[in-house]
Amino acid sequence: MNILVTGGAGYIGSHVVEELVEAGESVVVFDNLYTGHREAVDPRAKFVLGDLNDAGAVKRLFDEHPFDGVLHFASHTLVGESMQQPFLYLGDNVTNALNLLRAMVDHNVKRFILSSTANLFDAPERMPIDEKERIVPGSPYGESKFIIERLLYWMDRVHGLRYAALRYFNAAGASPRGNRGEDHLHETHLIPLILQTALGLREKITIFGDDYPTRDGTCIRDYIHVTDLAQAHILALHALDKGSRTYNLGNGLGYSVKEMIDAARQITGQPIKAEIGARRPGDPATLIAGSETIKRELGWAPEFASLEAIIGTAWDWHRTHPKGYEV
Ligand code: UFG
Repeated sequence: MNILVTGGAGYIGSHVVEELVEAGESVVVFDNLYTGHREAVDPRAKFVLGDLNDAGAVKRLFDEHPFDGVLHFASHTLVGESMQQPFLYLGDNVTNALNLLRAMVDHNVKRFILSSTANLFDAPERMPIDEKERIVPGSPYGESKFIIERLLYWMDRVHGLRYAALRYFNAAGASPRGNRGEDHLHETHLIPLILQTALGLREKITIFGDDYPTRDGTCIRDYIHVTDLAQAHILALHALDKGSRTYNLGNGLGYSVKEMIDAARQITGQPIKAEIGARRPGDPATLIAGSETIKRELGWAPEFASLEAIIGTAWDWHRTHPKGYEV
Protein backbone atom coordinates (compact mmCIF):
# COMPACT_ATOMS: atom_id res chain seq x y z
CA MET A 1 0.00 0.00 0.00
CA ASN A 2 0.96 3.66 -0.43
CA ILE A 3 0.72 5.14 3.05
CA LEU A 4 0.85 8.77 4.16
CA VAL A 5 2.23 9.21 7.68
CA THR A 6 1.70 12.68 9.14
CA GLY A 7 4.09 13.38 12.00
CA GLY A 8 6.34 10.56 10.79
CA ALA A 9 9.42 12.40 12.11
CA GLY A 10 8.09 12.34 15.68
CA TYR A 11 8.67 9.78 18.39
CA ILE A 12 5.80 7.37 17.77
CA GLY A 13 5.37 8.21 14.07
CA SER A 14 9.01 7.47 13.23
CA HIS A 15 8.85 4.06 14.92
CA VAL A 16 5.67 3.21 13.01
CA VAL A 17 7.29 4.30 9.72
CA GLU A 18 10.20 1.95 10.44
CA GLU A 19 7.84 -1.02 10.96
CA LEU A 20 5.75 -0.09 7.88
CA VAL A 21 8.76 -0.06 5.55
CA GLU A 22 10.06 -3.26 7.18
CA ALA A 23 6.66 -4.78 6.29
CA GLY A 24 7.13 -3.72 2.66
CA GLU A 25 4.75 -0.75 2.54
CA SER A 26 5.58 2.38 0.53
CA VAL A 27 5.59 5.39 2.88
CA VAL A 28 5.47 9.18 2.47
CA VAL A 29 6.13 11.20 5.64
CA PHE A 30 4.60 14.70 5.92
CA ASP A 31 5.96 16.64 8.88
CA ASN A 32 6.66 20.30 9.74
CA LEU A 33 9.62 19.29 11.99
CA TYR A 34 8.11 21.45 14.72
CA THR A 35 8.91 18.74 17.26
CA GLY A 36 10.11 15.93 14.97
CA HIS A 37 13.58 15.19 13.58
CA ARG A 38 14.47 14.70 9.93
CA GLU A 39 17.06 12.08 11.03
CA ALA A 40 14.31 10.03 12.70
CA VAL A 41 12.68 9.27 9.34
CA ASP A 42 13.65 5.90 7.90
CA PRO A 43 15.64 6.58 4.69
CA ARG A 44 13.42 4.13 2.80
CA ALA A 45 10.46 6.52 3.27
CA LYS A 46 9.95 9.67 1.19
CA PHE A 47 10.03 12.87 3.27
CA VAL A 48 7.89 15.94 2.47
CA LEU A 49 8.34 19.04 4.66
CA GLY A 50 5.00 20.73 5.22
CA ASP A 51 2.31 21.81 7.63
CA LEU A 52 -1.22 20.45 7.89
CA ASN A 53 -2.53 23.93 8.60
CA ASP A 54 -1.63 24.81 4.98
CA ALA A 55 -4.65 23.35 3.15
CA GLY A 56 -3.05 24.13 -0.25
CA ALA A 57 0.06 22.11 0.62
CA VAL A 58 -2.10 19.23 1.82
CA LYS A 59 -4.08 19.27 -1.44
CA ARG A 60 -0.84 19.23 -3.50
CA LEU A 61 0.43 16.30 -1.43
CA PHE A 62 -2.68 14.30 -2.29
CA ASP A 63 -2.63 15.46 -5.95
CA GLU A 64 0.92 14.13 -6.27
CA HIS A 65 0.56 10.78 -4.45
CA PRO A 66 -2.08 8.08 -4.87
CA PHE A 67 -2.48 7.18 -1.19
CA ASP A 68 -4.28 4.03 -0.04
CA GLY A 69 -4.31 5.07 3.59
CA VAL A 70 -3.31 7.73 6.11
CA LEU A 71 -1.78 7.35 9.58
CA HIS A 72 -2.17 10.62 11.48
CA PHE A 73 0.37 11.31 14.23
CA ALA A 74 1.07 15.02 13.66
CA SER A 75 -0.31 16.72 16.75
CA HIS A 76 0.40 18.68 19.86
CA THR A 77 0.51 15.92 22.49
CA LEU A 78 1.20 17.25 25.98
CA VAL A 79 -1.51 17.12 28.64
CA GLY A 80 0.25 19.75 30.78
CA GLU A 81 0.87 22.17 27.90
CA SER A 82 -2.76 21.90 26.82
CA MET A 83 -3.85 23.11 30.26
CA GLN A 84 -1.76 26.27 29.66
CA GLN A 85 -2.34 26.77 25.92
CA PRO A 86 -5.73 25.24 25.06
CA PHE A 87 -6.02 26.84 21.61
CA LEU A 88 -2.98 24.92 20.35
CA TYR A 89 -5.06 21.83 20.96
CA LEU A 90 -8.73 22.76 20.47
CA GLY A 91 -7.64 24.92 17.51
CA ASP A 92 -4.63 23.48 15.66
CA ASN A 93 -5.13 19.79 16.41
CA VAL A 94 -8.72 19.93 15.22
CA THR A 95 -8.31 22.17 12.15
CA ASN A 96 -5.25 20.21 10.98
CA ALA A 97 -7.25 16.98 11.19
CA LEU A 98 -10.09 18.63 9.25
CA ASN A 99 -7.70 19.76 6.49
CA LEU A 100 -6.41 16.21 6.23
CA LEU A 101 -9.86 14.63 6.21
CA ARG A 102 -11.10 17.07 3.58
CA ALA A 103 -8.19 16.18 1.29
CA MET A 104 -8.85 12.47 1.86
CA VAL A 105 -12.53 12.81 0.98
CA ASP A 106 -11.72 14.94 -2.09
CA HIS A 107 -9.20 12.32 -3.27
CA ASN A 108 -11.30 9.31 -2.33
CA VAL A 109 -8.80 7.93 0.21
CA LYS A 110 -10.74 5.66 2.55
CA ARG A 111 -8.40 4.34 5.25
CA PHE A 112 -7.39 6.37 8.31
CA ILE A 113 -5.65 5.61 11.59
CA LEU A 114 -5.75 8.11 14.43
CA SER A 115 -3.27 8.42 17.29
CA SER A 116 -5.76 8.84 20.10
CA THR A 117 -5.12 8.85 23.82
CA ALA A 118 -5.83 7.52 27.29
CA ASN A 119 -6.47 11.14 28.23
CA LEU A 120 -10.10 10.48 27.17
CA PHE A 121 -10.55 8.75 30.53
CA ASP A 122 -10.26 11.23 33.35
CA ALA A 123 -12.88 9.63 35.59
CA PRO A 124 -12.75 5.88 34.91
CA GLU A 125 -15.33 3.75 36.66
CA ARG A 126 -13.44 0.50 36.04
CA MET A 127 -9.77 -0.41 35.93
CA PRO A 128 -8.39 -1.62 33.54
CA ILE A 129 -10.05 0.83 31.15
CA ASP A 130 -11.62 -0.83 28.14
CA GLU A 131 -13.45 0.65 25.16
CA LYS A 132 -16.81 0.65 26.99
CA GLU A 133 -15.55 3.20 29.52
CA ARG A 134 -17.34 6.56 29.57
CA ILE A 135 -15.39 9.30 27.83
CA VAL A 136 -14.41 12.22 30.07
CA PRO A 137 -11.51 14.09 28.46
CA GLY A 138 -8.93 15.08 31.06
CA SER A 139 -7.57 18.15 29.28
CA PRO A 140 -7.90 20.22 26.08
CA TYR A 141 -5.48 17.68 24.58
CA GLY A 142 -7.81 14.74 25.33
CA GLU A 143 -10.79 16.81 24.16
CA SER A 144 -9.08 17.54 20.82
CA LYS A 145 -8.61 13.80 20.21
CA PHE A 146 -12.22 13.11 21.20
CA ILE A 147 -13.43 15.74 18.72
CA ILE A 148 -11.35 14.07 15.98
CA GLU A 149 -12.80 10.66 16.90
CA ARG A 150 -16.26 12.20 16.43
CA LEU A 151 -15.24 13.71 13.06
CA LEU A 152 -14.16 10.23 12.01
CA TYR A 153 -17.49 8.75 13.05
CA TRP A 154 -19.26 11.15 10.68
CA MET A 155 -16.72 10.67 7.88
CA ASP A 156 -17.49 6.96 8.06
CA ARG A 157 -21.26 7.46 8.05
CA VAL A 158 -21.33 10.13 5.35
CA HIS A 159 -18.34 9.22 3.14
CA GLY A 160 -17.60 5.57 3.92
CA LEU A 161 -14.14 6.42 5.29
CA ARG A 162 -12.92 3.52 7.44
CA TYR A 163 -10.94 4.43 10.51
CA ALA A 164 -9.22 2.99 13.55
CA ALA A 165 -8.90 5.18 16.64
CA LEU A 166 -6.00 3.80 18.69
CA ARG A 167 -5.98 5.16 22.22
CA TYR A 168 -2.46 4.83 23.49
CA PHE A 169 -1.68 4.70 27.15
CA ASN A 170 1.97 5.66 27.90
CA ALA A 171 4.13 5.05 24.84
CA ALA A 172 7.70 4.26 25.88
CA GLY A 173 10.89 2.44 24.89
CA ALA A 174 12.93 2.65 21.71
CA SER A 175 13.42 0.63 18.55
CA PRO A 176 15.14 -2.67 19.41
CA ARG A 177 17.24 -2.06 16.26
CA GLY A 178 18.90 0.78 18.21
CA ASN A 179 18.54 3.41 15.50
CA ARG A 180 15.72 5.57 16.85
CA GLY A 181 14.19 6.55 20.16
CA GLU A 182 12.59 9.35 22.14
CA ASP A 183 14.06 12.84 21.64
CA HIS A 184 11.97 15.86 22.64
CA LEU A 185 13.49 19.35 22.72
CA HIS A 186 11.81 20.15 26.05
CA GLU A 187 11.52 16.71 27.62
CA THR A 188 8.53 16.22 29.93
CA HIS A 189 8.10 12.42 29.82
CA LEU A 190 8.97 10.27 32.78
CA ILE A 191 11.25 7.58 31.33
CA PRO A 192 13.55 9.89 29.31
CA LEU A 193 13.86 12.20 32.33
CA ILE A 194 14.77 9.29 34.61
CA LEU A 195 17.37 8.04 32.10
CA GLN A 196 18.85 11.51 31.57
CA THR A 197 19.31 11.60 35.35
CA ALA A 198 21.01 8.18 35.21
CA LEU A 199 23.37 9.60 32.56
CA GLY A 200 24.21 12.59 34.76
CA LEU A 201 22.59 15.04 32.30
CA ARG A 202 20.16 16.04 35.07
CA GLU A 203 20.85 16.19 38.77
CA LYS A 204 17.58 14.57 39.86
CA ILE A 205 14.09 13.54 38.89
CA THR A 206 11.14 15.23 40.60
CA ILE A 207 8.20 12.97 41.45
CA PHE A 208 5.02 14.94 40.82
CA GLY A 209 3.10 14.21 44.02
CA ASP A 210 3.14 11.28 46.46
CA ASP A 211 -0.33 11.82 47.94
CA TYR A 212 -2.40 10.08 45.24
CA PRO A 213 -4.74 7.23 46.19
CA THR A 214 -2.33 4.54 44.90
CA ARG A 215 -0.20 1.84 46.61
CA ASP A 216 2.78 4.15 47.21
CA GLY A 217 1.08 7.54 46.67
CA THR A 218 2.62 8.17 43.22
CA CYS A 219 0.74 8.03 39.90
CA ILE A 220 0.30 4.68 38.17
CA ARG A 221 0.59 4.37 34.38
CA ASP A 222 0.50 1.59 31.79
CA TYR A 223 3.71 1.83 29.73
CA ILE A 224 3.53 0.30 26.26
CA HIS A 225 6.53 -0.26 24.00
CA VAL A 226 6.51 1.92 20.89
CA THR A 227 7.33 -1.06 18.62
CA ASP A 228 4.34 -2.98 19.99
CA LEU A 229 2.25 0.13 19.27
CA ALA A 230 3.62 0.13 15.73
CA GLN A 231 2.56 -3.48 15.19
CA ALA A 232 -0.96 -2.59 16.37
CA HIS A 233 -1.11 0.09 13.65
CA ILE A 234 -0.13 -2.37 10.94
CA LEU A 235 -2.75 -4.89 12.11
CA ALA A 236 -5.42 -2.17 12.29
CA LEU A 237 -4.55 -0.86 8.83
CA HIS A 238 -5.13 -4.26 7.27
CA ALA A 239 -8.39 -4.77 9.18
CA LEU A 240 -10.06 -1.53 8.05
CA ASP A 241 -11.74 -3.07 5.03
CA LYS A 242 -13.85 -5.03 7.53
CA GLY A 243 -15.01 -1.81 9.19
CA SER A 244 -14.04 1.04 11.49
CA ARG A 245 -12.87 0.26 15.00
CA THR A 246 -11.60 1.75 18.26
CA TYR A 247 -9.04 0.12 20.55
CA ASN A 248 -7.43 0.95 23.88
CA LEU A 249 -3.75 0.07 23.75
CA GLY A 250 -1.61 -0.80 26.74
CA ASN A 251 -0.19 -3.85 28.50
CA GLY A 252 -2.80 -4.01 31.27
CA LEU A 253 -0.02 -3.51 33.83
CA GLY A 254 0.31 -0.43 36.01
CA TYR A 255 3.57 0.86 37.49
CA SER A 256 3.92 3.77 39.89
CA VAL A 257 6.43 6.58 39.35
CA LYS A 258 8.49 5.25 42.27
CA GLU A 259 8.44 1.72 40.81
CA MET A 260 9.66 3.08 37.47
CA ILE A 261 12.56 4.87 39.14
CA ASP A 262 13.48 1.71 41.10
CA ALA A 263 13.36 -0.42 37.93
CA ALA A 264 15.57 2.10 36.13
CA ARG A 265 18.07 2.00 39.01
CA GLN A 266 18.34 -1.77 38.59
CA ILE A 267 18.57 -1.70 34.80
CA THR A 268 21.10 1.14 34.58
CA GLY A 269 23.06 0.38 37.77
CA GLN A 270 22.97 4.12 38.54
CA PRO A 271 21.68 5.67 41.81
CA ILE A 272 19.20 8.16 40.10
CA LYS A 273 18.46 10.84 42.67
CA ALA A 274 14.72 11.51 43.15
CA GLU A 275 12.77 14.05 45.19
CA ILE A 276 9.08 14.58 45.87
CA GLY A 277 7.52 17.70 44.32
CA ALA A 278 4.03 19.12 43.85
CA ARG A 279 1.34 17.45 41.77
CA ARG A 280 1.22 18.38 38.05
CA PRO A 281 -2.23 19.74 37.05
CA GLY A 282 -4.19 17.37 34.83
CA ASP A 283 -2.54 14.11 36.01
CA PRO A 284 -5.05 11.36 36.88
CA ALA A 285 -3.97 8.97 39.68
CA THR A 286 -4.16 5.70 37.74
CA LEU A 287 -4.44 4.77 34.06
CA ILE A 288 -4.30 1.10 33.06
CA ALA A 289 -5.53 -0.16 29.69
CA GLY A 290 -7.86 -3.03 28.97
CA SER A 291 -6.63 -4.19 25.54
CA GLU A 292 -8.44 -7.50 25.21
CA THR A 293 -10.47 -6.30 22.21
CA ILE A 294 -7.51 -5.78 19.87
CA LYS A 295 -5.91 -9.01 21.08
CA ARG A 296 -9.09 -10.95 20.37
CA GLU A 297 -10.09 -9.25 17.10
CA LEU A 298 -6.68 -8.72 15.47
CA GLY A 299 -4.39 -11.11 17.34
CA TRP A 300 -2.22 -8.27 18.66
CA ALA A 301 0.49 -9.82 20.86
CA PRO A 302 2.89 -7.35 22.48
CA GLU A 303 6.49 -8.55 22.28
CA PHE A 304 8.15 -5.98 24.55
CA ALA A 305 5.72 -5.78 27.49
CA SER A 306 8.24 -6.21 30.32
CA LEU A 307 9.78 -3.22 32.11
CA GLU A 308 13.19 -4.73 31.26
CA ALA A 309 12.36 -4.44 27.55
CA ILE A 310 10.72 -1.01 27.82
CA ILE A 311 13.33 0.66 30.02
CA GLY A 312 16.17 -1.46 28.59
CA THR A 313 15.64 -0.38 24.95
CA ALA A 314 15.13 3.24 26.08
CA TRP A 315 18.40 3.03 28.06
CA ASP A 316 20.26 1.64 25.02
CA TRP A 317 19.00 4.61 22.99
CA HIS A 318 19.76 7.29 25.60
CA ARG A 319 23.25 6.10 26.45
CA THR A 320 24.25 5.79 22.79
CA HIS A 321 22.48 9.07 21.86
CA PRO A 322 22.84 11.34 24.91
CA LYS A 323 22.03 14.35 22.70
CA GLY A 324 19.29 12.52 20.81
CA TYR A 325 19.47 12.76 17.01
CA GLU A 326 22.18 15.42 17.20
CA VAL A 327 24.80 12.69 17.69
N1 UFG B 1 6.11 12.35 36.15
C1 UFG B 1 6.83 12.71 37.28
N2 UFG B 1 7.93 13.50 37.11
C2 UFG B 1 8.35 13.95 35.88
C3 UFG B 1 7.59 13.59 34.74
C4 UFG B 1 6.47 12.78 34.91
O1 UFG B 1 6.51 12.33 38.40
O2 UFG B 1 9.35 14.69 35.82
C5 UFG B 1 4.92 11.49 36.32
C6 UFG B 1 3.64 12.15 35.86
O3 UFG B 1 3.07 12.89 36.90
C7 UFG B 1 2.81 10.93 35.46
C8 UFG B 1 3.84 9.90 34.98
O4 UFG B 1 5.09 10.36 35.50
O5 UFG B 1 2.17 10.41 36.58
C9 UFG B 1 3.95 9.83 33.48
O6 UFG B 1 4.11 11.16 32.97
P1 UFG B 1 4.45 11.46 31.45
O7 UFG B 1 4.60 12.95 31.33
O8 UFG B 1 5.58 10.60 31.00
O9 UFG B 1 3.17 10.95 30.65
P2 UFG B 1 1.63 11.35 30.84
O10 UFG B 1 0.97 10.21 31.57
O11 UFG B 1 1.45 12.69 31.43
O12 UFG B 1 1.12 11.49 29.34
C10 UFG B 1 1.42 10.54 28.32
C11 UFG B 1 1.48 11.26 26.98
C12 UFG B 1 0.12 11.81 26.62
C13 UFG B 1 -0.94 10.74 26.76
C14 UFG B 1 -0.88 10.06 28.10
C15 UFG B 1 -1.84 8.94 28.14
O13 UFG B 1 2.41 12.35 27.03
O14 UFG B 1 0.15 12.26 25.28
O15 UFG B 1 0.43 9.56 28.32
O16 UFG B 1 -1.75 8.21 29.33
F1 UFG B 1 -2.17 11.30 26.63
